[in-house]
Amino acid sequence: MTTQSEGPRTRTNFNKNWKFFLGDEPTAKSTNFNDSKWRKLTLPHDWSIEGKFDEKTPAKPEGGGLPTGIGWYRKEFTAPANLQNRLITIEFDGVYKNSEVWVNGNCLGKRPYGYTSFFYEIGRFLKPGKNIIAVKVDNSAQPDSRWYSGSGIYRNVWLTSTAKVAVAKWGTFVTTENTGKVNVRTQIENKTLRPQIIAIVNSVYSADGKLVVKGQAQALKIDTSGTTVTGDLSINNPVLWSVQNPYQYKLVTEILQNNQIIDRYETKFGVRAFNFDAEKGFSLNGKPMKILGVCLHHDLGALGAAINVRAMERQLEMMKAMGVNAIRTAHNPPAPEFLDLCDKMGFLVMDEAFDMWAKKKTKNDYHLHFKAWHKRDLEDMILRDRNHPSIILWSIGNEIREQFDSTGVAITKELVGIVKNLDQTRPVLSALTETDAKKNFIYQANALDIYGLNYNHKLYKDFPKNYPGVKFLATETTSALATRGFYDTADTIRRWPKDGKTKFAEGNKEWSASAYDNVSAYWGSTHEETWKEAKKYDHVSGLFVWTGFDYLGEPLPYPWPARSSYFGIVDLAGFPKDAYYMYQSEWTTKPVLHILPHWNWEKGKAVEVWAYYSNADEVELYLNGKSLGKKSKQGEDLHVQWNVDFEPGTLKAVSRKNSKEVLVREVKTAGAAAKIELIADRKNIKADGTDLSFITVRILDKDGNIVPNADNMVDFKVAGAGFIAGVDNGFQASLEPFKAAYRKAFHGLCLAILQATEKAGTIKLTASSAGLSSSSITINTAK
Ligand code: GAL
Repeated sequence: MTTQSEGPRTRTNFNKNWKFFLGDEPTAKSTNFNDSKWRKLTLPHDWSIEGKFDEKTPAKPEGGGLPTGIGWYRKEFTAPANLQNRLITIEFDGVYKNSEVWVNGNCLGKRPYGYTSFFYEIGRFLKPGKNIIAVKVDNSAQPDSRWYSGSGIYRNVWLTSTAKVAVAKWGTFVTTENTGKVNVRTQIENKTLRPQIIAIVNSVYSADGKLVVKGQAQALKIDTSGTTVTGDLSINNPVLWSVQNPYQYKLVTEILQNNQIIDRYETKFGVRAFNFDAEKGFSLNGKPMKILGVCLHHDLGALGAAINVRAMERQLEMMKAMGVNAIRTAHNPPAPEFLDLCDKMGFLVMDEAFDMWAKKKTKNDYHLHFKAWHKRDLEDMILRDRNHPSIILWSIGNEIREQFDSTGVAITKELVGIVKNLDQTRPVLSALTETDAKKNFIYQANALDIYGLNYNHKLYKDFPKNYPGVKFLATETTSALATRGFYDTADTIRRWPKDGKTKFAEGNKEWSASAYDNVSAYWGSTHEETWKEAKKYDHVSGLFVWTGFDYLGEPLPYPWPARSSYFGIVDLAGFPKDAYYMYQSEWTTKPVLHILPHWNWEKGKAVEVWAYYSNADEVELYLNGKSLGKKSKQGEDLHVQWNVDFEPGTLKAVSRKNSKEVLVREVKTAGAAAKIELIADRKNIKADGTDLSFITVRILDKDGNIVPNADNMVDFKVAGAGFIAGVDNGFQASLEPFKAAYRKAFHGLCLAILQATEKAGTIKLTASSAGLSSSSITINTAK
């Protein structure tokens, strides 16, 4: 018999036409509930980001100072055709948190962990025609995550229909060797209630869609518990996946019955090999390279936790341009699309499961569910993610409290076992802080492949002496603090807060931290202090700087109204702070010249002028045409510096190599704010309902110089085929809403994020501000 009559699987985006209610409405699970008054929306959705900042919010400033609570989602949908012969699955990429799902009033289950992806088979509850799905999301128990989590169905939802004999979800595992040998393990389900005879065929396609190799059909009899089959294929002269050339192949798995294709399952993969060495560090495809990484939380600034592929891609583009080659998904599994982007754009990834185990960090965090759910959540992360060529490390946890007591030994062994059972091709580590290995019970478990150390950069040097033969990675570093465009010199580097007894730093009345790279948390170090150590030693396989971007929540070192982090190399709006260019000068091969600070000071003030540069022997600085001398980096220096008595005019830096000019940078004293300039990151975007154009708003004087301290209120009007998805200015203590048609500039800049509708056309954004001439920009959207 054939198990089904129509074609192979369909996977449909299930984001549209949801109804939403903020609050608890227990009867909404039943089919006949009337939701006509509820708000209609399209997922992904984060209700927290739509709320008002409030010091008293249960999530506290540490959680971003935005509302959490309970929310309900409902959707009426038409069941896929031929129900009785199909397996119908609903897939949630992420719901924050404690989701409960009902289909036609039938409870499918609960999922406490808000960062996990999960799915339910729903066919047996469906009827032909109209059906109702209801989802309760409960993020009311706070404090929870130590950063902003967002609330709601904040990642994509999918509806899949397959034959009753099909490849299981996350059912393939592709491993490769650089010789071109490809091993495929496939889990096949049989829900027909009787044994079936089928054949399975694997084919590999090149990135441009050409058939590379087709395996032999393998005939199988499968009983009702399903089966797992393995097979080998061989690619001649494979193109290797690397950071520079992130080449991916596509495996197509076909299941045939009676000469008909009843399932077709696609798996992207890359051919690459890597190694960690205790002395020589990391290598990819045999070539030594340092892992130059940043840690990223999952929020997308003004867009909150609601995932948007373009917003993630923009973050990664900025990281790539800075020279970053690796991302640590701190401290939880990311959206699947984030990993797809890393595969495609060439980033290495450390995929992290947890920020705590059974011992809590906050009252209502995942420790409450760890016992019941850790196995399932960890397994699901590995099963979901193990085909991504970008992933080179599994982290079972960040700064886990069980380091400090003997329960850590057994849990570490168990978690490592869970991972190794599903994937033996990648090392497992944990980001540790207890530096005395004898006292570190996670280390004592003797189960980890690599020693991952957070902070403590002074210990890098002697690591090989203290831990002979142990592989080493700086899993988290730095925690420097800065506010874009704010400069404050100090004779010594500041530690804010200064020690473990002080919660907040004295700080300043601007709620800012200097962008001269002279402030860090006491457990951390400045960007330069850290990188100088990490770059010195080959045995340091790499580092993950805390953090690439500012993120919502954890506003250390300030109390309210600070509500987002100061750690980012780039601010929350996506404007680089100055340290960005230090990394760029060190981590890329392109010529860099960047000078700081701005050039608007009181006459006579002694100002430190810094230059980051590369691909040059020296930099000469001029003030109003007069040379202030040439400087070049000595020894370990990462920048050069002049002390200049301020006078208004033009500060100009020229970098030279062998006396030939490489780059010139100028900064001019700005006059009064006079006009607005709008710059789009992309002027042509897709009319797909999700694509974005990020518009940088610059406040200029009449001559076109950016006004460095401008804080003008900017009003936006938008017309045509788009809307404002969010606004921001990167200031960590701004309490203006992110969903608004206005924003104050901060140090001369703010941002408006335009989102396309599904109608092709143009989006016109007009920005105006009292006393300034206004400006507009037009973005084209096309199908
Ligand atoms: C680390 C922690 C991060 C973040 C950071 C701030 O210890 O792993 O999640 O809290 O400190 O400096």
